[in-house]
Amino acid sequence: MTMKENSESQIDGVVEIIDDPNRLVRAIFSGRRRNMQPEFEKIELRPIKLRDQVLLQTTSLVGTKSKTANLEFGKFATRETLSSGFANCLIEATDLTITIRFTKKGEPQIHTSVRELVQKTTHDRQKSRLLDPNNEFLKKVGISDGAGRIKPSMNDKYLQIEEFLRILMPTLKSEISAGRIHQPSPEAPLRIVDHGCGNAYLTFAVHNYLMEQDIPNQVIGIDQREDSRRRNTAIAIELENTDSIEFRAEKIADSGFANADLAIALHACDTATDDALAWSIRNHVKMLLVSPCCHHDLQTQFEDIPAPWTLVTKHGILKERFGDILTDALRAQILRLHGYRCEIIEFIGDEHTPRNLLIRATLTYATPDPEDLSRFREIVKSWSIRPKLAEILDFS
Ligand SMILES: C[S@@+](CC[C@H](N)C(=O)[O-])C[C@H]1O[C@@H](n2cnc3c(N)ncnc32)[C@H](O)[C@@H]1O
Repeated sequence: MTMKENSESQIDGVVEIIDDPNRLVRAIFSGRRRNMQPEFEKIELRPIKLRDQVLLQTTSLVGTKSKTANLEFGKFATRETLSSGFANCLIEATDLTITIRFTKKGEPQIHTSVRELVQKTTHDRQKSRLLDPNNEFLKKVGISDGAGRIKPSMNDKYLQIEEFLRILMPTLKSEISAGRIHQPSPEAPLRIVDHGCGNAYLTFAVHNYLMEQDIPNQVIGIDQREDSRRRNTAIAIELENTDSIEFRAEKIADSGFANADLAIALHACDTATDDALAWSIRNHVKMLLVSPCCHHDLQTQFEDIPAPWTLVTKHGILKERFGDILTDALRAQILRLHGYRCEIIEFIGDEHTPRNLLIRATLTYATPDPEDLSRFREIVKSWSIRPKLAEILDFS
């Protein structure tokens, strides 16, 4: 079979999935091919059960407007949509996942992986939400509109904070039941710091959600920008929760020592993530949930590359991604070497943000294995690098 025939038969497979009410889990068309302009910025498809019939729900986004329609299966113009100029397509079926990326020349690069997924055909998106879109704080921070609907342009941010909460809750509960974090009470609330809080979407979300779950908490949002502090404080005043939320305009590294149980950070840029981790280690923060942002620290230090690894670093994009991976792996290792149990997990699908990793760490004071230290040393020595976090903590 020629390459062209092969990709045509794979496209036939995509059409079959999208037309099959028993197989389609979800499909997303997004991005824009060079010199092409699809009618919508993004189209998402999923099966939905309405009364006794399973229909194909299409949600099309253009600018800040989204349009939803329910079609009979088989009526969606998959081939036309694929050739309309989208750059990426993700098709998830119950038995496999297909990704299509179009090259600059418009050739589809199709990748299929075997993965089992379960269909969600109920109209239950509303029910499974942790944060009611009509919640006053979501309106005030600008995620929902005045009518209590998530603004299409803020949907990804909304999903990010929801998924963040979904990971926070079980980890927090298990730390409380293990006795590593005290049982929060109105007299002794959970103390939280949000590093690089920006517009405080996460700050307000965590505060509100924990309050709703009867977990009294006190939150400090730190951002170097004075305009963020002013804006966020004004919102806290309107919401009448300045007793339990405070905003400070300062650099994370300059922020004074504090008794914090939980440190959170969502996309604190570049080495601000290292500042947040260093601050937490120094303050013996008991639990950390930190989603790193862009990294440049190690990439700029990659000069003396250990011989076999030039196989990776000679490709610009791989060098960049490898730098990201090494940065986070070494961050996790430094946390481990300071008595934290640490995992790096994906907290949200990459169609909502490419920065979708989360460093989750809990302070157990476990004595690190000496091998952990020697492995860390071996890597930094062989790559001739000094990770920012190690530099801030003066750790080697
Ligand atoms: C990409 S934004 C993310 C904001 C917010 N966490 C969110 O997810 O919407 C990063 C924020 O970190 C702040 N920031 C960057 N470096 C910082 C530092 N060293 N100290 C304090 N804030 C910092 C920036 O001002 C910016 O508001």
